[in-house]
Formats: sequence, C-alpha cells, structure tokens
Amino acid sequence: TSAHDSVAATLERVEQALDNDRLPVEIFNDEAVFKAEMDQIFGTCWVFLAHESEIPKAGDFVQRRIGVDPVIVTRDGKGEVNVLSNYCRHRGTQVCQTDAGNSRFFKCPYHGWTYSNDGDLVGTPNKHGAYAENLDPKEWGLYRAPRVDSRFGFIFASLAAEGPTLDEYLGGAGWMLQMMVGLHPDGMRVAGPPERYKLKANWKTGSENFAGDTYHVGTLHYSNEEIGIAPDLKSNVEVTRSYDFGNGHYTIGFPFVELAGPFAAFWGYDPETAAKFDLSGLDETQRHMVENEPPIVGTIFPNLSFLRSPVPVRIGEMEMAVVTTFRQWQPVGPGEMELWNWQFVWTFQDEQQALDAYVAGQFTFGSAGTFEVDDTVAWEGAPKAAKSPWMRRQEMEFSFGQAHMSPVNREADPTYKGPGIKRPTGFGEHNQISFYRHWVNTLRHGTQATSVQEG
Ligand code: FES
Ligand code: FE
Repeated sequence: TSAHDSVAATLERVEQALDNDRLPVEIFNDEAVFKAEMDQIFGTCWVFLAHESEIPKAGDFVQRRIGVDPVIVTRDGKGEVNVLSNYCRHRGTQVCQTDAGNSRFFKCPYHGWTYSNDGDLVGTPNKHGAYAENLDPKEWGLYRAPRVDSRFGFIFASLAAEGPTLDEYLGGAGWMLQMMVGLHPDGMRVAGPPERYKLKANWKTGSENFAGDTYHVGTLHYSNEEIGIAPDLKSNVEVTRSYDFGNGHYTIGFPFVELAGPFAAFWGYDPETAAKFDLSGLDETQRHMVENEPPIVGTIFPNLSFLRSPVPVRIGEMEMAVVTTFRQWQPVGPGEMELWNWQFVWTFQDEQQALDAYVAGQFTFGSAGTFEVDDTVAWEGAPKAAKSPWMRRQEMEFSFGQAHMSPVNREADPTYKGPGIKRPTGFGEHNQISFYRHWVNTLRHGTQATSVQEG
C-alpha cells in the first residue's frame, strides 16, 4: 500500500540521517508513521499497564491503554490478573467507563451484554428470544491480551501471541529494575492513582528524554537551581554514566557518593531506610551501583520511563525525600500524548515518609511540578515543526558527545561487568541515537530480543 511505502521511505531517510547524527523532524507528526507505530511497536512490544499494588483485591480493576487501545486490567476471583480489551464485542462500545474500581462484572451500557472480570460473556438481555441457541457465549467474550506477565509487581502485556518472553524483552532492563524497585522483599507500591495530562507532544520525545537527555538539565531546568531545589545542575550531569541495555532500554547513573560523600549513598535515602534494603540478590556490579552511582532516570521501550532523585521536602530546608516516579508517554495521535505519572514509595515506609516523598514528587514532577512544566513546554516544538511547510523536511541535530568528545567518552567502559554497555559519561546523545535506531528496527520487524553491541 502507499501508506506502507511512505513509511518505508521515511524509515530509510531516518536511517541515513542517523548515520550522520541527525533525525528528520517529520517523524514527530506523521499519520502514517503513527499508525505503523501502533501496529509494529505497541502491537508487538511488552507494554507496561499497571502495578499490582493498584489492584490488590479480587475484583479490583484499572482502566489502562496499550497504544491507543483501552484495556481493563482486572484481578479476578482466582487472584489472576487479566488484561481485557475494553471494547464490547457487540458494537464496540466501551464496557468499562471508569478509571478504577472493584467489580465482578462489566455491563455494556449500550445493549447490556455483561462480561465477568475474567472476560467471559455471562449475560445477554433477551438472550432466549433474541438468539435462541445461536449465540455461543464462549465465542463472544472480551478479547484478552495474549500474553501478560509481571516483574517486581509491574504488569506488562504483549498483543503479539508469540515473541520474546518478558524476561528476554527486558534483558538488562530487568537487571536495572531490580536495583530500582527490587531492594526489599515487600517491594514498592503506588502512592496513588496516576496523574494524567495531555500534551501536544509526541510520545517518543518523552522516552528519548528519559533515556538520557542530560544536556537539557542545566538550561531548561535552571530555575530549579535558582530557587534552591537542585545544586549546580550542569556540572552535576556532566559526571553521569550512561547505560545502553539494548532493545531500546537505557539508564543514566548518577555518582552521588563521588559528588556529595558517603551520606549520599543509595540515592540519598536516609540511613534508616537504606539499612532496610536487602542487597543479597544483587550481583557485585549492582551492589556497587546502588550504593555509589545508582540509576536516576531511564526508559524501557517503548514508553515507560522512571526517575529517582532526592528532593527537598520544603523549599529552603535541608530535609530531603527521595522521589520515585514511573511515567508513561501514552500516544494519542501523531503530535499528541498523555503523560501518566505514578509516584512510588517503598511498601515498608511509614505514612509520613510516604507523604513526604509524594509531596516532594508532586512539587517537582507532578503536572505543575517545577521540572515537569519545563519539559512539557519544550517538547511541544517538534510536532509543530513537523507540520510546518518551512520546517517539516528539516533534520534535527544529534551529534552532541558523538564526534567531538575524546574516544574514551564515546566508547564502552571495558571494566564494566553488567549487561549492555556502559559509557563513562552520560553527557552526550549516544542513547538517543540508539533509541531511534531501535525504533526503526522495531517498526520494520516488530519486537525481537536483541542484545546491544558496541558500535
Ligand atoms: Fe455492547 Fe451492544 S454494544 S451490548
Ligand atoms: Fe527534563
């Protein structure tokens, strides 16, 4: 088809541009590309949906999305997690109209077909008179995501019946997640439902940014330095480390201890909290990382990102809370997304600690947060440029840290023993280039478990 040809041609332009550390701006607001993304990326990859702490009891459900499709994530009477398409099989009406709740059944508002919370069709009004024996309820249950799995309570689903397992898909990102959320047997829990806000930005920009855009921190977020929330942002990010785990998964490590001293170990969690962390399941590299230079931001392909950082509980005071946000860049259209922002706290933390972390998180990375508002404004530029008759054929510049830095900063750290590759600095655009290369591959072939190679 011509749409297919046009996407193939676009991808070729993208690939050529990437070879020169550039990226065509057109991919940030293109109908055909967006449609291909929904099919090839959101239709095949493992997509994050919910955390188990959001649906602890039988009957609990939350409404979520896989790409543009609404799904209901339920816990049924057997305690199993189900991921059900939220489209009635009769005429396609959404059977669940609320964001979250507890119910054994979902009754379609249109004609009343009723589904149990594991997806079976259990009721059709006037069944006997209308259908006699013609309607086989087994055939007309809600569609179910063919594969559902979870790690550390993070529930993912894949719409592809076959492909890499979740473990294979996550690869080194599972190793990274273990450091972020696997440091206590009780795990983490959500501090509340996700905040959601609309942006006229493309979902890729969020993923790309959290994959390691350290460059913007000292400029776009400078006001945070001025008001005393963050010290010397620019020189701090210059000493970060970057990790590319393959499969479009990335993180940036931050050398807290090297910069601030031993009290900043474990992201700067207070010693009492840090003492509760159980490192026995970690390998030596992970142990060194969580203590000295842990992950602070990262992206799991396609659209899940996280950030963990100490933030003052109140402006002008020394007391810090460590904020953990997981966020999802939900595609809405070629130039539009919703940002879904969850805050997480350790299950073992008491109410006050959890509240402090939540307030500090809202203050910085909530919808009106001091960092969040900076990013969301800046990100609206690219989709506009992509629609501009003047700009839409132009390319963006991605060579920062690629060509001009010493080879030692561009090449992988040979002493690193963990998965993927580590570069001694995160101050560059290696991860962004890698992200778009992976995006091209996935658009062409769907998801495949690949391991990252240097070069
Ligand atoms: Fe759902 Fe008719 S559309 S019952
Ligand atoms: Fe930012």
